[in-house]
Amino acid sequence: MLLLIVLALSLALIGRWLYHYAFYWQNKGVPILQISSFKNSWNILWFRIPFWKVTENIYWKCQEKYQGFFMMENPSLFVKDLELIQRILVKDFEYFPDRTLGRNPTHDHLGAHILFLTRGYSWKYMRSKVTHAYSSARINLQIPLMEEVAKELCQYLADREHQMIDVKETCAKYSTDVITTSAYGIRGNSFTDQKDNYRTVTAKIFSADLYRAFAFNLHYIAPYLLKFFGLTFLDKSVNKRLKVTYAEQMDMKLKTGTNRNDFLDFLIQLSKKETDSRFNTGHNAMISQAAQYFLAGFETIGSTFCYMLYELAKHQEHQERLRDEITSVMSNYDNINNNAIKEMLYLDMVLKETMRLYPVLPFLDRKIAKDYKIPDTNIILEKDTNVYISIIGMHMDPQYFPNPHKFDPERFSVENKANILPFTYLPIGAGPRICIGMYLLAIMYHFILKVQDMDLQQ
Ligand code: HEM
Repeated sequence: MLLLIVLALSLALIGRWLYHYAFYWQNKGVPILQISSFKNSWNILWFRIPFWKVTENIYWKCQEKYQGFFMMENPSLFVKDLELIQRILVKDFEYFPDRTLGRNPTHDHLGAHILFLTRGYSWKYMRSKVTHAYSSARINLQIPLMEEVAKELCQYLADREHQMIDVKETCAKYSTDVITTSAYGIRGNSFTDQKDNYRTVTAKIFSADLYRAFAFNLHYIAPYLLKFFGLTFLDKSVNKRLKVTYAEQMDMKLKTGTNRNDFLDFLIQLSKKETDSRFNTGHNAMISQAAQYFLAGFETIGSTFCYMLYELAKHQEHQERLRDEITSVMSNYDNINNNAIKEMLYLDMVLKETMRLYPVLPFLDRKIAKDYKIPDTNIILEKDTNVYISIIGMHMDPQYFPNPHKFDPERFSVENKANILPFTYLPIGAGPRICIGMYLLAIMYHFILKVQDMDLQQ
């Protein structure tokens, strides 16, 4: 008898869940996206298909302004309408302040405080505190540090003249060392064969082994399981190395009083003025801010360099025009500086077109913080609904960017860029959660200026 009751209750629960799943969006009057939620989630979890690719596929399937689906059991809305995208990211930000990614503060002290993952008050507070560290004024102070790494790069390339080099790896070494020096004030030594060079750390950050893929993707699709599995956002050995680096360098700086204008120096100044006891120097939040700087900076810059060089290698005409521009502008200056960079309009166009074709983060996601009524409809989106926007989908959509697969920097010329519809070009996101690190792209300019004499086709 008891068994029958349990069976009946289980069937009733499953039935209720299936009903909810089948009619959730229909009951709200939201058009449904015909995709298999389970298959997508399963494929994402095991890295059979990257998350961003799923959102891109949905972009091409979605025929309406927005459509509803499920990511695991989470109601999710895919948005294509530009007006609604603008509301989500900017105008109605108070309803959409966080990303969908979860955190595991119990087992992951470092990952839990990373700006990209933080939510609510913690995010608002920390973002306002660290914004200055990412400002152009502050990054300019670091130009001498970047120059040191650029010299090592030049030497590395000179030693390999007329040899095949792995461009992707060279870009990764360069961005690793620039970010290591700019975050922690130490040499990354990635251009050397030293065993403990920081390239060995960054190589692990986005390594695609099955366990890391599972851990990373679970942050997106089933964050409530993170604690159960004891998972961390970054590889545990990376967490450990970054914590040790932080502790050693902080200790050294506090003892010697050295100031190199790196990110740790900024944190020291910040902690002296800090009044909120939750954010003192010893606190994980500080370690996480340094780690955030390190990990966001290395991958984004390294891969964008690499794609830029790839496109320039394929397109000799753009390469030559860029080289001519750099040579002509630099003939008026002794050293690379901000004024010189501002004059390099074609360099800016090449960079923008690279970020259109290869956005490092190809989709945006937001979690609804309180019930939201879609303007001019009766549709109420409930708190905790996920929202997705495909950046790569829009960048490759011929209605916004004609002949989208063509590498064409002219799209971003002074005359043409006015034709780009607002919110169709989003390589760095938009609104209060927009990328905080864009001034660090100055590093990229330095890189390209240094390699300008190379013939990229060779
Ligand atoms: C090619 C270079 C880069 C690209 C294309 C890029 C792109 C992005 C995008 C699309 C977002 C999400 C924005 C949103 O949700 O609206 C983001 C966020 C972020 N980026 Fe970048 N990024 C780049 C470089 C950097 C660098 C160099 C750093 C720091 C060293 C950095 C730090 C961050 C941080 C901390 C966030 C989270 C901001 C927040 O949630 O408040 N990024 N980035």
